[in-house]
Amino acid sequence: MGRVEGKVAIVTGAASGLGLASSKRLAAEGATVVMADINRDQGEAEAANIERAEFAALDVTSEAAWQAFIAGVVERHGRVDVLLNCAGIVKLASIEETTEDIWRAVHSVGTDGTFYGCKHILPVMKAQGAGSIINMCSTASIQGAPGIFAYAASKAAIRAMTKSVATLSTENRYGIRCNSIHPFNMDTPMLQGVQEIVRQANPTAFPDMEKVWVGEPEDVANMVLFLASEESKAVNGAAMVIDNTATIVQGNVLK
Ligand SMILES: NC(=O)c1ccc[n+]([C@@H]2O[C@H](COP(=O)([O-])OP(=O)(O)OC[C@H]3O[C@@H](n4cnc5c(N)ncnc54)[C@H](O)[C@@H]3O)[C@@H](O)[C@H]2O)c1
Repeated sequence: MGRVEGKVAIVTGAASGLGLASSKRLAAEGATVVMADINRDQGEAEAANIERAEFAALDVTSEAAWQAFIAGVVERHGRVDVLLNCAGIVKLASIEETTEDIWRAVHSVGTDGTFYGCKHILPVMKAQGAGSIINMCSTASIQGAPGIFAYAASKAAIRAMTKSVATLSTENRYGIRCNSIHPFNMDTPMLQGVQEIVRQANPTAFPDMEKVWVGEPEDVANMVLFLASEESKAVNGAAMVIDNTATIVQGNVLK
């Protein structure tokens, strides 16, 4: 018997990185996983290799797309037990470099996408009297991050949304749990892209960056599995940090 046997899970940003690793982990433990992403080619190719997974194209920045997508999942599977809001983009820009376009692009995927996901899954889970929403944040939402200004702000908004959804649910006995996950650096295409930009912009600084601790996508997937399962039934409104002490030491943790 798998740890999430028989559950129906939606994962956004599922074509790559943390969303992909989480989709694999949930499916391996018995869940039916609807892998949603804006990248159809990659998402379809990945889903084809995962038992009990299917791909669905979704641009999380569109509220109308979210509504149609959730209606389709409910029609096909009858329920939704887990929603992992994992889609995200990052732009390397301090507040001084952040244009309105950068600000809006980052918030549109992260903040808006998570808002629409939470808002439109709520009636489904409320009717079931149960459900687990998991929002992917970052340690940047706790400490701030000068070089990724809009991203840190978006993750902080998601952290607050998470706690508001969780408390709304307990106040009204909806039976829905909502938790956030706050990873530090994890080895995914997003991080590799950031590292490449830094490497090109400042080759002498890069050797220092290479000494910084980096976790594996599976480290995050294991936390997703726990929050998706009944093992975490008493965990609600929590911010689960996966950082090997990075937020405590006020600096980078070396390998
Ligand atoms: N990798 C890290 O170090 C790290 C650390 C903390 C938090 N995170 C967060 O984890 C999440 C996943 O990041 P990752 O590292 O796996 O990145 P990634 O770039 O590997 O994957 C992100 C996925 O989101 C999808 N996506 C982007 N815009 C979308 C949209 N509008 N609609 C639907 N899907 C969209 C992409 O196509 C991609 O498949 C993000 O929210 C990120 O901010 C990552």
